[in-house]
Amino acid sequence: MEDLYAHPEYYELAFAYRDSAAEQRVLEACIARHGGRRVERVLEVACGHGPHAPLWLERGYGYMGLDCCAAMLARARERVGDAAGAAWIEGDLADFEAPAPADFAYVLLGSLYAPDTAALHAHYNAMARALAPGALYVLEWCVEFEPFVDMVDSWRHTYGDTVVETVYTLTHLDRLEQTVEERVEVTAHEAGGGRTFATSARKRVMYPQEFLQFIGHHPAFAFVGWWNEWDLDEPLDGAYPINRPLIVIRRLA
Ligand SMILES: C[S@@+](CC[C@H](N)C(=O)[O-])C[C@H]1O[C@@H](n2cnc3c(N)ncnc32)[C@H](O)[C@@H]1O
Repeated sequence: MEDLYAHPEYYELAFAYRDSAAEQRVLEACIARHGGRRVERVLEVACGHGPHAPLWLERGYGYMGLDCCAAMLARARERVGDAAGAAWIEGDLADFEAPAPADFAYVLLGSLYAPDTAALHAHYNAMARALAPGALYVLEWCVEFEPFVDMVDSWRHTYGDTVVETVYTLTHLDRLEQTVEERVEVTAHEAGGGRTFATSARKRVMYPQEFLQFIGHHPAFAFVGWWNEWDLDEPLDGAYPINRPLIVIRRLA
């Protein structure tokens, strides 16, 4: 089976159901409502092929994309061409340095790939270094709201002559260490046959009250709020089911 992230074009097809422009507008609305500083430069953690990078650049922001996969970063670079204002960081989210302070940051699709507690804490410390005082950090998922549930989700879309089937699984590895294995398998049925790509990663998950305690005691961050389904008018309080939540924290001065 081939590595999904070595073939960004298939990753893109698997997640092409998303409306990147609408997502970018919500992120910008979040800055307007909750931001504590003027935003000139945004940082995307685990940016992959950088679906929002051209949108930020078109709107006059600087964009920094961090990812550990050279092939995904190459695809992101290709998408923005030689636009000024883009910077790329090939590195691990638990241990990186941004070339300039970010005024806003986000990580999408639960892409906080820290394999253990030390790496998870290291990530927040790296973010504390990367963010300017008052900057917001938006995390999509990255907190588990359904504790200890193994899950499978799948979707299928057709693009021209290609049918793309995606299967997402989350399996608990160690319930004391709070680690899960996340696996994404994409099969593209094209004229002449099918190809399957996969990627899997171990994640140390945080549960909601643990996250609040962690951020509440973190010297560099404050909790701002959490909302359901990318809707800043739908706080999570009492919400069920919880789907694609946005969690917002602020870098303290
Ligand atoms: C699900 S994709 C998300 C891509 C993009 N943010 C989006 O919204 O489509 C996850 C990305 O995380 C990257 N990644 C995985 N582990 C990482 C790590 N430890 N540090 C930095 N990036 C990582 C992968 O290379 C991949 O590009």
